[in-house]
Amino acid sequence: MSKIGIGIIGTGSIVHTYVKCLSEMEGVEIIGLCTKSVDRVEQVKTEFGLPVYSDYVSFLSLPEINLVCICNESGKHSEAIEAAAKAGKHILCEKPLEVTTDKIDRLIALCKKQEVLLGCVLQNRCSADYRLVEDAVKSGKLGKLLMGNASINWYRSKAYYSQSNWRGTIELDGGAAFINQGIHTIDLLMNLMGPADSVFANVQTRVHKIEGEDVGAALVNFGNGAIGTITAGTALVPGYPERIEVYGEKGSIIMEGGKIIAWNIQGEDAPVLDTKTSGSGAADPKAIGHQNHKIVLQDMVESIRESRNPMVDGVEARISVALINAIYQSSREKKQVQL
Ligand SMILES: NC(=O)c1ccc[n+]([C@@H]2O[C@H](COP(=O)([O-])OP(=O)(O)OC[C@H]3O[C@@H](n4cnc5c(N)ncnc54)[C@H](O)[C@@H]3O)[C@@H](O)[C@H]2O)c1
Repeated sequence: MSKIGIGIIGTGSIVHTYVKCLSEMEGVEIIGLCTKSVDRVEQVKTEFGLPVYSDYVSFLSLPEINLVCICNESGKHSEAIEAAAKAGKHILCEKPLEVTTDKIDRLIALCKKQEVLLGCVLQNRCSADYRLVEDAVKSGKLGKLLMGNASINWYRSKAYYSQSNWRGTIELDGGAAFINQGIHTIDLLMNLMGPADSVFANVQTRVHKIEGEDVGAALVNFGNGAIGTITAGTALVPGYPERIEVYGEKGSIIMEGGKIIAWNIQGEDAPVLDTKTSGSGAADPKAIGHQNHKIVLQDMVESIRESRNPMVDGVEARISVALINAIYQSSREKKQVQL
């Protein structure tokens, strides 16, 4: 396989990030884009200068496409993934892989049956700062883990929801602040702390005219005995950088806005840090940089060449959605939910 041919399904705001990343990468070629709205085809063609299709069948029958990137609405990821898997294409899907674990389980089984790779974009795992934290926690430098907290106390404007027919809906977004904005930080927290045993949560819709939550809090019991809290919102003015705190018996680390801001481990100096910031989406989704997406895309392309699983496969991508689904269930039923 000389070049990896790439097709992209969904032509909304995130596609600009893909086109930028892929234009900077060697050994890949964008074969085309696919949007299901026929009336957008000409506009998208002009915008990107690439071939644009309006139905999956003709798009996915292109033999030059090896990898399909799924960038449509979250609750429609499964219809696009199913079509791509049945066409024998490898798949890299935007977060969340889908909005429920039932749908995710079906997708994992289908991709296995079709013998295609399934990756998910949870790009914050690729930041240099996070990798230092992950290495410190997983190599036991913090000792026994005691507490892990995450806050994604963000703000989104009224227009962010009113100009979209899917954001904040249960069917297509799965909820709102936890599953759309919070998922990146929740994924990092879960990767550091390990599986959760149970959760008790309260999520509410207080400000925005949406079905999903714009503020919420959860108390998590992790399987290793540690406890933790997660708060998330999109109505929290002005929107603060997301934060993760991990406390162990030998020290603690805090990240804010994707950067390490505190590193206190007994007997160890803090690492020398790159001061560049990858951008937080605290108040504006467009502030998020493209570098971490590029690392995810590079890993996916290499995983195809090397016939190995991508960095975040379906099973890994399921973990944060399972916790978020449990948070919603706990809030609905007003009781602790076991995972
Ligand atoms: N990894 C990240 O940081 C990140 C950031 C943003 C979005 N995402 C994910 O990417 C996916 C898509 O999000 P998005 O922000 O690109 O959504 P979007 O609303 O911009 O686009 C979603 C869909 O709507 C269609 N669409 C957009 N504008 C349209 C118009 N004017 N007329 C008709 N159709 C139109 C697009 O074809 C696309 O399929 C979601 O799953 C989201 O969670 C991930």
